[in-house]
Amino acid sequence: MLQCIAEFGLDGIIATTTTLARTGPFAAVSEAGGLSGAPLRQRSTEIIGYIARATNGRLPIIGVGGIMDPASAGEKLDAGATLVQLYTGLIYRGPFFAAEVARALADRQRK
Ligand SMILES: Cc1cc2nc3c(=O)[nH]c(=O)nc-3n(C[C@H](O)[C@H](O)[C@H](O)COP(=O)(O)O)c2cc1C
Repeated sequence: MLQCIAEFGLDGIIATTTTLARTGPFAAVSEAGGLSGAPLRQRSTEIIGYIARATNGRLPIIGVGGIMDPASAGEKLDAGATLVQLYTGLIYRGPFFAAEVARALADRQRK
């Protein structure tokens, strides 16, 4: 995918999405379908880190997967994400969750 992005001059990548994997950290999940939320947190961050390293930090990355609190959003930025996206956190934390994360990340930037 990174080769395609470079070849076609795409502006960035959203990494990652839900997973159908049921091995490794996802082995205990018995339900079918795309898994989202907290179980994705670490693997998603690892992939973001991989992409950032492989592209020397030059490709904008929207970091997604398992952002359930401000710390997990910060991890994505630390791994090389330019922006973050969240979905399942809204279900568990409610409609003000995005604003809470944004404020916490802004405070972090100021320190
Ligand atoms: C119910 C549901 C519907 C989703 N629909 C879409 C979609 O239409 N398009 C898309 O790109 N991603 C979709 N996603 C994936 C989310 O955008 C996100 O990449 C994924 O859930 C991982 O992030 P999260 O752990 O914050 O939920 C959906 C996820 C869920 C749980």
